[in-house]
Amino acid sequence: MAQASIALIYGTDTNNTEEVGHKIAKQWEELGEQVDIFNIKDIEISQLQEYATLILGVPTWDFGGIQSDWEDIGDGLSELSLENTSVALYGLGDQFGYGDYFVDAMGWLYEKLLPTKATFIGQWSTAGYEFEASRACIEDKENFIGLAIDEDQQFELTDERIEQWVIQLYAERAVEAA
Ligand SMILES: Cc1cc2nc3c(=O)[nH]c(=O)nc-3n(C[C@H](O)[C@H](O)[C@H](O)COP(=O)(O)O)c2cc1C
Repeated sequence: MAQASIALIYGTDTNNTEEVGHKIAKQWEELGEQVDIFNIKDIEISQLQEYATLILGVPTWDFGGIQSDWEDIGDGLSELSLENTSVALYGLGDQFGYGDYFVDAMGWLYEKLLPTKATFIGQWSTAGYEFEASRACIEDKENFIGLAIDEDQQFELTDERIEQWVIQLYAERAVEAA
């Protein structure tokens, strides 16, 4: 089956990750490509295998906890085959309220997807954030595995971060496809 282009899939409890997802998709569509948007609770996870590029969004809840709809399908995620898929992650969190667990769920999602052989794109610098620890910093504290968005403490930076990140993703994906 021919691969469709891009899907953005989010889970959310209070809609921030959905709203940010729509902004990311809009930004991408301004570059000329359509993005299919889904709530993870409304789809079969096998559908993730139908796309060449996936943008996956997850908020962190309750001291490093995983948004429940993502957590429910965690084991299934590891069984997917995403060998030819570029995957970009974004995570929502609150760096001052939960600075020891900032956007931890994004790190969890990365760990769950490692066995799928996906190609991860979209690492993002931790410069400009203040936090103690994050599971989403995979090697050191210099970079997150994906885009960290803080609607609670730094909402004024969200649009600019999204704009820069989407341009970065677009370029990284082109390199992967070459
Ligand atoms: C009770 C509670 C627990 C939270 N726990 C964390 C946490 O451990 N780490 C973090 O980075 N953010 C935490 N947050 C912040 C949320 O991730 C943040 O508000 C996010 O934007 C919610 O996204 P959603 O609206 O898509 O569910 C917590 C918020 C609340 C109210």
